[in-house]
Amino acid sequence: MLPGAVPSPNIWHHPATYEVENRAADPDGRLWSAMADAVSWAQRDVLDLGCGTGFHLPRFAETARSVIGVEPHPDLVALARRRTRRLEHVSVEQGVAQSIPLPDASVDVLHVRWAYFFGPGSEPGLAEIARVMRRGGTALIIDNDATRSTFGGWFRRSYPSVDPVAVERFWSLHGWTRTPVEMGWRFGSRADLEAVVRIELTSPVAEAALATHEGFEVDYAVNLWSKRF
Ligand SMILES: C[S@@+](CC[C@H](N)C(=O)[O-])C[C@H]1O[C@@H](n2cnc3c(N)ncnc32)[C@H](O)[C@@H]1O
Repeated sequence: MLPGAVPSPNIWHHPATYEVENRAADPDGRLWSAMADAVSWAQRDVLDLGCGTGFHLPRFAETARSVIGVEPHPDLVALARRRTRRLEHVSVEQGVAQSIPLPDASVDVLHVRWAYFFGPGSEPGLAEIARVMRRGGTALIIDNDATRSTFGGWFRRSYPSVDPVAVERFWSLHGWTRTPVEMGWRFGSRADLEAVVRIELTSPVAEAALATHEGFEVDYAVNLWSKRF
């Protein structure tokens, strides 16, 4: 594993369940719509930093000029390469946010979803973002909004050391703009929801959540942070 990689037990240890989670996320396209309102990636060069198994790469590739996924975990790099092997304008490189394996001023649109940039502590990655972005480019960072929604409450109980107020202050102080999005989760079965809840939350919080929450859907709020360079 590359130095600087943030442990991500959900996708590192359960990539198949994480795939189920990605398919269940944003069922009404509200997050993609907010991203498209913030920036167009048509005919532009896109970087997906911390791309995991490359779930989002094909979607960008539909219209982008080029798409690069960067990911520290070698097994996930292999999965992302396999997912995109027929897409000639997509490539996947092993790397970390603190040392992005790309030249200066080479990215028009940056997408980072639930990876490394969790507020305080991500300054080295922010310096790298500033280096690789072209003038006029836009960066998008997506993370949980722990201040609201059913999932936000579960997340807060699971990870009480995360201070959502400090996280929001961090992004605002660094010049990022917040767009709140009711992303949502909608699963195809109760078994899928239960499997995903168990890889995302600590065991007592997951079991308590599942004992009180019915059905296959969860309201889940995220923050889309954006910055123009
Ligand atoms: C929760 S997963 C999200 C994956 C992907 N963005 C998605 O939405 O499917 C977090 C990812 O960030 C990667 N990661 C961990 N540390 C990183 C770092 N320092 N720089 C870039 N990516 C990192 C992990 O290996 C993992 O693939």
